[in-house]
Amino acid sequence: MTRIYLNEIRREFGSTLALDDVTIDIPHGEFLVLLGPSGCGKSTLLRIIAGLLAPTSGQVVIDDQDVTTLAPGKRDVAMVFQSYALYPHLSVERNLGFGLQVRHRAKDEIKVRVEAVAEQLGLSALLARRPKELSGGQRQRVALGRAMVREPKVFLMDEPLSNLDAQLRTATRQELSALHQSLKTTFIYVTHDQVEAMTMATRIAILNNGRLEQVGTPAEVYDEPATTFVASFIGAPPMNLLPAVALSLAGRVRVMAGGVDVTLADGDLAERDVLLGVRPEHLRRAPENSDGPVFTGTVLALENLGSEEIAFCDIGGVQVAVRGARPLAMAVGETVALTSDPHQLYLFDPVTTRRLIWVHDDSLAVHGAARASTNAPVA
Ligand SMILES: Nc1ncnc2c1ncn2[C@@H]1O[C@H](COP(=O)(O)OP(=O)(O)O)[C@@H](O)[C@H]1O
Ligand SMILES: [Mg+2]
Repeated sequence: MTRIYLNEIRREFGSTLALDDVTIDIPHGEFLVLLGPSGCGKSTLLRIIAGLLAPTSGQVVIDDQDVTTLAPGKRDVAMVFQSYALYPHLSVERNLGFGLQVRHRAKDEIKVRVEAVAEQLGLSALLARRPKELSGGQRQRVALGRAMVREPKVFLMDEPLSNLDAQLRTATRQELSALHQSLKTTFIYVTHDQVEAMTMATRIAILNNGRLEQVGTPAEVYDEPATTFVASFIGAPPMNLLPAVALSLAGRVRVMAGGVDVTLADGDLAERDVLLGVRPEHLRRAPENSDGPVFTGTVLALENLGSEEIAFCDIGGVQVAVRGARPLAMAVGETVALTSDPHQLYLFDPVTTRRLIWVHDDSLAVHGAARASTNAPVA
């Protein structure tokens, strides 16, 4: 059993703060994906876990042992790089066995392990080839196999699929998920690709500018984003965010903006600014005399995705995306009234960017702050 605990990991490069006190608890067997845009600190964090880089402060704990100052070779972790880093002059077999050879394992043992891993990855017929005689996908599997023969406690992968074409990437995602299930080992996987994260992760840690925004299952980060960053980073097109005012009118809490009128709940609320969030797939044409949320605007453009269609609408000066099965039956220039289910609306604090939830009958509280209410709906 391998538990990894990252405690307040901070890393500075001169005046750049690459990691800002990141704390993550990674239980055994997790497929944790570190997700975020380029430059947010993903590789830095992975290199710190591997021992290739020291944190400025904070600790890396593996199975209750503080390994922060331990050399990479003593941590029992294996790293798979984006570049694969295969030895070009060695055969697939020698590449696979290299990690065991430098650890002075017996020749017979290396052969058995290499053949078992090659079998598992479908590389048995390629053992005599050199890396340049392999396809991109095969090279990627050799890089993975080289990590597997060592039977490490943890696999660390830094954008391992980014050199593959789209079709191969989809197939390899499924292979990696299956491999994770059969190895039952902890994987920590870096990517900037939300689809990779959503399809493979058991949990996703979302980084923004060196800060951890949220850690959660794919469903949690999609359905219950903690911040506007998470809400806009996951989902395509991203969640619509409209500057709005929340206030009470005749004992009902309403959220209003140009072209927007939403009744949230009964209650009294001191007037305040909010960001109103709604996902493109949750907006649809409002039926006649709808008493649900109302968004009124003009269709600016339509995008045909084949099975689906996206309409970009101007609602009170904000561009709002609407996504649904094609045809959406909307025309450019048309005025449309849209609605959604009240529980599919989100509120965020425009200053802290954190999600707000409606509690009791008179207040908006920061989502997750009390820890107990993580599943509470907005309204
Ligand atoms: N060796 C380094 N020297 C100086 N700055 C670095 C170094 N490595 C990373 N950085 C900076 O730290 C930040 C995070 O980088 P990185 O972890 O590589 O991001 P990511 O992998 O998410 O794209 C970036 O601003 C990057 O420029
Ligand atoms: Mg990187």
